[in-house]
Amino acid sequence: MLPAQCESSGQIHKRDKEDFFMSLFSGRNFRGTLLLVLAVIVTSGPVLAQGDGATLFKSKCAGCHSADGSGTGPAGKAMHLRALGSADVQKQTDAQLAAIIADGKSPMPAFKDKVTSDQIKQLVAFIRSLAKKG
Ligand code: HEC
Repeated sequence: MLPAQCESSGQIHKRDKEDFFMSLFSGRNFRGTLLLVLAVIVTSGPVLAQGDGATLFKSKCAGCHSADGSGTGPAGKAMHLRALGSADVQKQTDAQLAAIIADGKSPMPAFKDKVTSDQIKQLVAFIRSLAKKG
């Protein structure tokens, strides 16, 4: 951390609230900015927003697609998976995504005998939530 940033965090008590928030964005209080960003990620994350879909995804899909759908784990890399949040995947319709999950897409197995159609909808919703992360 730069000395200037350490100094500014010591002065926070003297500032009023508005100044404090401005300092978050101006980078004078780097630690505060980091905490704010982390708080936003944690509270808006797909794990909380899409409880059921996220849990299903973790147990049935993350082995290949990674928990965040990025496909950056060893299996995902080996199979050259596209990130599920990417524009190429997201441009497919809900019906198309549901069909891939139900029927599989070699070497991905079919899931229609392993999950209900409601659960497939939850999985599609979870995949949609990945797009918001950019
Ligand atoms: C055994 C590894 C494996 C598992 C488990 C797996 N997938 Fe896949 N998945 C793949 C592979 C490989 C592809 C790419 C197939 C292709 O495009 O040739 C894929 C493709 C997809 C696609 C289309 C992505 C694209 O590039 O258009 C979706 C959506 C998808 N998977 C969702 C899921 C969901 C939801 C689950 C859990 C219910 C799941 N997958 C479980 C391996 C897996």
